[in-house]
Amino acid sequence: MYNSALKILRLFPPEMAHDLTLNILKYKKFVSKNFEDPILSQHLMGLDFPNPIGLAAGFDKNAEVIQSMFSFGFGFIEIGTVTPKPQKGNIKPRVFRLQEDRAIINSLGFNNKGVTKVKKNLLKIQNTLRSNKIIGVNLGKNKNSINAIDDYLLGMEKLGSLSSYITINISSPNTEGLRELQLKGKIEKLIKKILQKREQIESINKKPVLIKISPDLNEDQLRDIALISLANNVDGLILTNTTAERTNKLISNYKTKVGGLSGKPLYLTSNTILKKMYNLTNGQIPLIGVGGISSGSDCYNKIKSGASLIQLYTALIYSGPILITNIKNELIDLIKTDGYKNISDVIGKSV
Ligand SMILES: Cc1cc2nc3c(=O)[nH]c(=O)nc-3n(C[C@H](O)[C@H](O)[C@H](O)COP(=O)(O)O)c2cc1C
Repeated sequence: MYNSALKILRLFPPEMAHDLTLNILKYKKFVSKNFEDPILSQHLMGLDFPNPIGLAAGFDKNAEVIQSMFSFGFGFIEIGTVTPKPQKGNIKPRVFRLQEDRAIINSLGFNNKGVTKVKKNLLKIQNTLRSNKIIGVNLGKNKNSINAIDDYLLGMEKLGSLSSYITINISSPNTEGLRELQLKGKIEKLIKKILQKREQIESINKKPVLIKISPDLNEDQLRDIALISLANNVDGLILTNTTAERTNKLISNYKTKVGGLSGKPLYLTSNTILKKMYNLTNGQIPLIGVGGISSGSDCYNKIKSGASLIQLYTALIYSGPILITNIKNELIDLIKTDGYKNISDVIGKSV
């Protein structure tokens, strides 16, 4: 069924196909043969993850299809990026399928319905969703905001208590100036203010705060982020967002489009960043590995490269939701074949 649906969806331009998908997921209930195996479960950052596979930010920007996505077997879901005010994003067309490369280029620019609407959506599912489901809220800043830090603080205030963890996204390439927040002086100030805010609000003072970073950072920048994260007890890092760089291996005619590249061509780059960060932080901060994962062995290698958890998005577009069950089965086989007892035994084994 999913294969035929995917074939039909691929006939539409990518953004229209995505909107159609969201509409189907919103109104149709999916009954899946979803399973959990304790070999994949972990207690991390104070949360119980039934399996390490998460839905990356950007798929469900407005918290509209969380239930359906859980029914496909994800261990956790990250909604957003959400900005304080609703915004339309950049001009269309702004999503391109690089089919031959199993990749996507997007320049969406944080199109989303804003914190007030997203809060309503999160409140709506609170009673129906089992309380142990893990939902991360990914926060960003509005394009025209005067003070970026205030935007993140407002996002925390409005949505923090409805989330299991909070992601500070300072790495999307499609909002001017955003990625500069990753630089030494700025990130330190941002992190301190965010953690201060968390202290002040009782309903969020135990929520893990994670920072999502870009694959386009150099060694010095990575070292700065590692040291600042360690010094301030940041709960986790998500590596990586999409890349603004292009390899000369891309085949598709869309390869010159402006925006962030995701999917297979990002896999090795994001793995390299992951390994470096695992070393720089001595494995002391949980890392979520994202970028180009499309199989159980991709996922296994990310975890061996230092990730405690993983997220994916682009492969879902090409393979459909059956991918999640397939990855889980393959992961279990790989763990058992290598003689490990639990997924956590694999973390960082190839660094
Ligand atoms: C269409 C699209 C929209 C995205 N939107 C966001 C976003 O709003 N916030 C964010 O942090 N990452 C966003 N991402 C990046 C993903 O979360 C992920 O970091 C990246 O795509 C790499 O993973 P993948 O190769 O599995 O897709 C988006 C990615 C795509 C393809």
